[in-house]
Amino acid sequence: MKGTQMNTSSTALPGGTWTLGDATVTRFGYGAMQLAGPWVMGPPADRDGALAVLREAVGLGITHIDTSDAYGPRVTNELIREALHPYPESLFIATKVGATRDAQGNWPTARRPEDLRKQVRDNLDSLGVETLDLVNLRMGDAQGTRPGPIAEAFETLAELQREGLIRHLGVSNVTEEQVAEARGIAPIVCVQNMYNLAHRHDDDLVDRLAADGIAYVPYFPLGGFTPLQSETLSRVASRLAATPMSVALAWLLRRSPNILLIPGTSSVAHLRENAAGAGLALSPQDMAELDGIGRP
Ligand SMILES: NC(=O)c1ccc[n+]([C@@H]2O[C@H](COP(=O)([O-])OP(=O)(O)OC[C@H]3O[C@@H](n4cnc5c(N)ncnc54)[C@H](OP(=O)(O)O)[C@@H]3O)[C@@H](O)[C@H]2O)c1
Repeated sequence: MKGTQMNTSSTALPGGTWTLGDATVTRFGYGAMQLAGPWVMGPPADRDGALAVLREAVGLGITHIDTSDAYGPRVTNELIREALHPYPESLFIATKVGATRDAQGNWPTARRPEDLRKQVRDNLDSLGVETLDLVNLRMGDAQGTRPGPIAEAFETLAELQREGLIRHLGVSNVTEEQVAEARGIAPIVCVQNMYNLAHRHDDDLVDRLAADGIAYVPYFPLGGFTPLQSETLSRVASRLAATPMSVALAWLLRRSPNILLIPGTSSVAHLRENAAGAGLALSPQDMAELDGIGRP
């Protein structure tokens, strides 16, 4: 059960809000993956710093946090619980299943019904909740999307939803065909795929989902482990006296109203910088130049 002990500030975050199923979330959210140790394995070097980032996120008014029990594993979920439990009513925590971790830090797929049931139980346990707000079924692999059937795995999550363990469903790292297949089984509230200024393969999908009121949540909005680099991005950023990260986030918010941001950071200073920077005003000329960077 969520509590009400922690208050969130009323500061308006850039982008306003979006309705995810029965919840309203800030379009400027936070991705917790960077809080685990190197290559998302083990604990962070600065545990107190990680807890401070999570508290700052809620303090800034962020109501959408993205995580997974595979981060660490367990590490980011346990940090979220330690920093924020009992959770504010307004906080929406999205998690994902479909892969686990091995001792070498690889992400072996685990999508048999028994694997998914275990991962859902593990997320409930490490986050300390009775129901998960949102579970994304992560398909593909570390190299990206892979075509193939989604039905057996997604039907298992739909069953867990009927059992009351999951409020909302989503899909991640998926092809358009897999999105359609999932939607034929149960309603989804979001698709979480890799997308940013330089990786625009999902442009059409973003627009189609927007028309259907489904959120698109880009992972690696800042380029992930390889920061976004582009001469055009640097030129626009310096013209606006802003950082390239601010421009990249502001562009995503402008790109489509169904885009929800979950930029990751392990730094309170970067979190504040990103929350402010995403509100940067971009002119039609800025948008046109930025649009040219990665348009297929
Ligand atoms: N569904 C999936 O398969 C999948 C895959 C990957 C990620 N995700 C989710 O997506 C979220 C976002 O992806 P991500 O965190 O990997 O990548 P990201 O948001 O594109 O970039 C994070 C990187 O940018 C750096 N950074 C952030 N703000 C900065 C700033 N203001 N100045 C300089 N550097 C800055 C961070 O370093 P510092 O820590 O130093 O700030 C970190 O190295 C994850 O946290 C996770 O929740 C999902």
